[in-house]
Amino acid sequence: MTQAQARILLLVDGAAASLPGMQLLLRLQEAGFSVQVTATEAALAFQPAVSWSAFSGLPCLPLDQLGDEQLKSAELLLAAPISLNLLEELLGSQQWRNALQSNNLPLLAAPAMSPEEAEQSPQFTGQFAALPPGSGLVLPGEQRWDLGALGSIALPSVETCLEEVCNFFTVPDLLGKKLLLTAGATIEDIDPVRFISNRSTGRMGLALARAAARRGASVSLVHGPVADPLPANSRIKPIAVRSAQQMYECSMAELSQVDIAILCAAVADFSPDQYVPQKIKKRGAQELSLLLRRTPDILASMGKLENRPFLVGFAAESDDLELNARLKLQSKQCDMICANDIREPGSGFAVSTNRVSIYSKEGHLTQLPLLSKDKCAEQIIEQVSAHYYAWLKT
Ligand code: CTP
Repeated sequence: MTQAQARILLLVDGAAASLPGMQLLLRLQEAGFSVQVTATEAALAFQPAVSWSAFSGLPCLPLDQLGDEQLKSAELLLAAPISLNLLEELLGSQQWRNALQSNNLPLLAAPAMSPEEAEQSPQFTGQFAALPPGSGLVLPGEQRWDLGALGSIALPSVETCLEEVCNFFTVPDLLGKKLLLTAGATIEDIDPVRFISNRSTGRMGLALARAAARRGASVSLVHGPVADPLPANSRIKPIAVRSAQQMYECSMAELSQVDIAILCAAVADFSPDQYVPQKIKKRGAQELSLLLRRTPDILASMGKLENRPFLVGFAAESDDLELNARLKLQSKQCDMICANDIREPGSGFAVSTNRVSIYSKEGHLTQLPLLSKDKCAEQIIEQVSAHYYAWLKT
């Protein structure tokens, strides 16, 4: 639900503007934001104005020439990267504070620091509280950038900054809600060399975690191996697991005070009866039989609980999509099932798109078109949010 074409004024400062700042500009545009750049002299020494103008498509203004017109037309002032000195100067300036207040323009600042400065974790909280709502600091945590001969700096990653921006622009209807999400495949080890798994990349689950976090939810993301980097949203707590049994145990342990559980993982239904600690040798054998046992069904187990959260399952089917989805909805006692036909082009495993039909316990059906997994996740979370609040009233 990111507001496409929302206008961001990107303030870039210092040597870090050259690489992380430019990457952030491109990533924000890719996410659909319109970005105008204002740069300090120090930033322009590393990346000239013509370069910022060319990539943003809007004139780049030196910071000292920034006028009311630019402040008025922006919805967010994103200072990333900004030196600690300049940040202190802006926050200490009555003129700047007035300009932000009168234009109702929040300031989100990602300071670039020396690793030593980062260890002292700068405190500006009080000063941000006096600025328009949404203002705040994005701190780097353990993240470091190698700027070659310029040395190493502490600065939040481009993805972290993007997530903070998306959090700001997304309606926070899930703020204060705790969400449990399972994602990815599980791995069932046979011996130290072999395992049983499946084709899930976890992309749909990661997209759902991002979409829910942007709407304000605190997300516990219990995940098996996934193909993409984990989301950089500070509202997401990743919990890595390997086997179906571990996913079951971690999910159940996380369940207290969960408002909504979305179980998107492709959990192995069967696991080897026994793990063989030494590599299994052929020793001339022509056959090998493995005894597999059922794994715990996480969704069905949650469905049986008396005080269970709002429960959303997934169904990846190759036949009789509607029939199988409705059967799973009933047998696993959940509130919603998101079903997709894995044989349909663009809807299977390891692709970047999905076409999902959402079945609710009350008999509603929402058929989403073929969408990127990110867009599909946004739509699913919108439906989940609406149905969850209706369920609370019952
Ligand atoms: N699921 C689960 N634990 C399992 C198996 C499945 O929590 N051990 C969840 C999945 O995360 C998904 C839903 O149940 O939300 C349906 O999973 P799916 O694999 O499509 O269905 P199965 O129950 O495994 O049934 P089948 O394989 O017979 O289609």
